[in-house]
Parts: sequence; structure tokens; C-alpha cells
Amino acid sequence: MKVYLFSVAPVEEPFVKEWQDQHPDDEISYTHSPLTASNLELAKGFEAVSTQQAEALKDAELKALAAGGVKHLALRKVGSDNVDLAAARKYGIVVSNVPAYSPRAIAENGLTGAMYLLRKWGYYHRKMRRGDFTRPTELMSDEIFNQTVGIVGLGRIGAAAAEMYHALGARVIGYDPFYNASLEPFLDFVDFDTLIKESDIIQLHIPLTPENKGMFGTNEFAKMKDDAILVNQSRGELVDTEALIVALKYHEIGGAALDVLEGEEKIFGRKFEDVGSLPDEYTELINMPNVVMSPHSAYYTKMAVKNMFFQSMTDTQRTVSGQQAFFKVN
Ligand code: COI
Repeated sequence: MKVYLFSVAPVEEPFVKEWQDQHPDDEISYTHSPLTASNLELAKGFEAVSTQQAEALKDAELKALAAGGVKHLALRKVGSDNVDLAAARKYGIVVSNVPAYSPRAIAENGLTGAMYLLRKWGYYHRKMRRGDFTRPTELMSDEIFNQTVGIVGLGRIGAAAAEMYHALGARVIGYDPFYNASLEPFLDFVDFDTLIKESDIIQLHIPLTPENKGMFGTNEFAKMKDDAILVNQSRGELVDTEALIVALKYHEIGGAALDVLEGEEKIFGRKFEDVGSLPDEYTELINMPNVVMSPHSAYYTKMAVKNMFFQSMTDTQRTVSGQQAFFKVN
């Protein structure tokens, strides 16, 4: 098969070589850049493209790819919210994702952020930098087994998170429109309103859709406990950033662990000096002691990166050889 790989990270290069060594007849080319209108010519004459980007792939890009012969778009990630799936279908491009590269990678990162905030490490670290080794009353913390953890979205990642918190002794409650009986040993299913009111830690593991954009805003923060921790590992657009900043500043909630940010496609995997200046709201969040942030790196583990590459190539091969992709999303 002939595949053009976009946004290849240095850590993926050994896998590209491994695949090529195992499939000497495949023609594989790649670039480190994401796929955009300005470089999609590179894919002309290739049967498939693969990418792992946050930048949008809209109707125009998909049309041009199809015109150049592309039949398969392999996303080396789970989220497909940046791709116009209906347009891909219209132009005969099969889109696949990698839904289970490592649910634990994401769930563990969320747990790490939640524990950092629960035990007030951000506050202590800042204080100690100033030579202040005191333990003020307001920094006394709680223990995870006394906490109620609410998981929003109970797919593979949400389920992994629920299992972990349950294993630590927390009371776990979960919200998902789809009931899954196999999760009963780890959590109680509740409605969304109950979840936001009763949880000490709220962790999001849902895909972004047009309907759930901004599902955490002023109203939801007002209903949450004053010391509740919000953990977002899914998509920045699920949270209204301005409302979050207000809620954090005025102690309507206790803290936020953020692996994703609204509008982050501008800075995804880059340095801010290469893209202009950081948006004010990012700077404000980064400087808050009750916020901990990572650069969309929850997925970034050895196992996950490897699985993303090889599983996406397997599905590409299946489509190109006329079989049904295992993880077709459109
Ligand atoms: C996903 O798998 O959807 C992610 O968010 C991680 C990816 C951007 C590398």
C-alpha cells in the first residue's frame, strides 16, 4: 500500500521503520507537520493518509485528498472531533481511529492531577520556593478514600478511571447516557446534576460533540462543591474557560487539572514563541496555584504511542486491501 503519514513525532519514527522493515512492499513517506491545506499535495497519489493532529480537517481538505486518490484517513488517536466525518464519507474516504491505545494512560494522568490538587502540592511548592515551610489551616487536605469521584463518560477510559478510584477506596459515581452493567462493581450510575453536586473530584472522559460544547459553565460551577476538583483530559471545548477562571478565582470550585484547553489547536505540540503570544486566559490559568496543567500529554506513554501507530496502520491496510477497518468512525 501507499501511505503518507503526517504529524509524525520523533518517538514514532522507530515504529515507521519497523513497519517498513516488516512490509517492504509498502510505500511510506512522512512529515513531522500536521496535514493542512498548504501541504496536502504531499499525499497526492497515495491511497491513504495518517495523522495525529488537533488541526481541523474540513470539507475542502477532504475533497482535495479524495481527488488525489486517498481512500483512507487513519487517525492515530481516539478523538475524531477535528474531522468533518460526513464530508469524508461524501468523498469516499474511510476514517479510522484507535479507541483503546491505552485507556489507563489517560485515566492515570487524570488521577495524578487530581491527587496533586487534593494534597495541595501546587500551594506548598509555591510557598516553599519563597522559603515558607509552614502548614496553614486552609491547606489541610483530604484523603482519597473519603472522597466522592464523579466520572463523566464511561467508555473505555472512563471505566479505567472508575476502576482506579474504586481501588483506592473512593466512592465512585458515574454519568453516561449509556448504561453499562459491567461497571456496577466499581460505581453507581447517577444523573448529571447529582454527579456535579455530590462529587469532590469530577473527571471528564467524553468525546466532544456539537451538543456538549461548554457543558461545564457558570451554572455547573455554581452547583459544584466549593472545594471540588475538575479534571479535564478530554477536550478543552467541554469547559467554558472564562467561567472556569471565575469559578477558580472566587472559590466556587477548588481546583482544576487540565490536559486540554479550549482553542489549543493553535499551540498543540508547539512552543508559544513559535505561534505568537499565549492567550491571556492560558497565562492566567497557568499561574494559579490551584491549577495544574499538562500539554495534552495524558496519552503520551510508551505503550500508547506504539499502539496508536501499529493499530492505525493495521486498519489502513485493511481498508486498502478491501476489508472493513476494525475502528471505522464514519
Ligand atoms: C486522542 O487520542 O484523541 C487524544 O486526545 C490524544 C491525541 C491528540 C494524540
